Amino acid sequence: MRGPLAISLPRLRAHLETLARFGRNPDGKGITRSCWSPAHEEARAWLLDRMKEAGLSTWVDEAGNTFGRLGNGGPAVMTGSHIDTVPSGGPLDGALGVLAGLECLQTIHESSTRTRLPLMVAAWSDEEGRYAGLFGSRAFTGKLDVKHIPQLRSADGERLVDAMARAGFNAYDAPKARCNPKTLAAYVELHIEQGPHLEAARIPIGVVEGIVGNRRKWVTFTGQADHAGTTPMAWRRDAFMAAAEYAMRARQLIITKGSGRSVTNFGRVEVGPGVANIVPDRCVLLHEMRELDPRVLARLERQCLALAKQVARKWKLKVDVEVISKTEPARCAPRVMRAVEAAAAALKLKVKHMPSGAGHDAQNLAAVTEAGMLFIPSQGGRSHRPDEMSDWRAIERGGNALLHTLLTLAG
Ligand code: GLV
Ligand code: MN
Ligand code: MN
Repeated sequence: MRGPLAISLPRLRAHLETLARFGRNPDGKGITRSCWSPAHEEARAWLLDRMKEAGLSTWVDEAGNTFGRLGNGGPAVMTGSHIDTVPSGGPLDGALGVLAGLECLQTIHESSTRTRLPLMVAAWSDEEGRYAGLFGSRAFTGKLDVKHIPQLRSADGERLVDAMARAGFNAYDAPKARCNPKTLAAYVELHIEQGPHLEAARIPIGVVEGIVGNRRKWVTFTGQADHAGTTPMAWRRDAFMAAAEYAMRARQLIITKGSGRSVTNFGRVEVGPGVANIVPDRCVLLHEMRELDPRVLARLERQCLALAKQVARKWKLKVDVEVISKTEPARCAPRVMRAVEAAAAALKLKVKHMPSGAGHDAQNLAAVTEAGMLFIPSQGGRSHRPDEMSDWRAIERGGNALLHTLLTLAG
């Protein structure tokens, strides 16, 4: 007797391995494929070819989102993720959701399985936020305000407008990518967990209950440059020391006053003028915090701002806080969670309900349609690093769970 419809792991594996060559670092370790970069644009062209080969109709919208579609008519069941990576990232973050989505649609097409609703797969632009986190899905869901576009730039100062122009896009057109929510029936995204919980529990499928919100800001302390040999310690208005105190105390605040799952990170520190014999007059921190409960996130944000001001007063210097991105936490739709559970049950796979500590495009899609996610275990919980990996069997299980979730949602 034939079992349930199943994806082709060899084909999915070949696609994952090929995509991982675009943007491979010269030392062979890690992948750097930030959105709009030449490596990303080559990967997009390759992906469009694979979508066409799979029998899908394809297009790219004004925000650079890449789509493939199977079937006509009304509201579509969507899947997808992103093909951009963090600097020196791994081969699965984002790529799995896009290529497994493609694999599912190709499997459905080749088996001549008819679904009541059409199916779509998307690769969303700049999920990793080199310029603006979740950029493509923000545009698609109507959350992108054209007046913010000129300010969007990478941490090293490159303007989004220039990066998109280089790739053949006009950034000011990106808000035109806004969808009509009536054309969407549901969204479900397959992703690696990027943390240790599924592997530790030996459970193959995570049913995501909600996705954390995120606040990113530049926190700039401005003090006084002075001779580092002659200025008495008590006289110094040292911007680095204030920043260091703020970082340590903000970390403690998030641990002790957060939800227990709140997290924070300082991903970049710049000290000026940056020489041994001058007391630093400027220190800039790239600070982010994440939390699932919107009220806790808002409170932590206020408390960190108050702390920054308090530390600045103590060191007799100035602090400026510039918000660079805000994403809101999202709850996953019960109907999508039930479809994932049913798919896993049909495949005899155990599930674990869990929140997502990483940001995902699904949190934007949740504003316009019923959205959810499923996770597979990450080896050692590792992600955003070159050795990010999942077992091929785990990938196959995740692909099949996505396939049956899509079939349930599309009827
Ligand atoms: C995306 O990977 C994130 O930063 O959560
Ligand atoms: Mn991702
Ligand atoms: Mn990521």
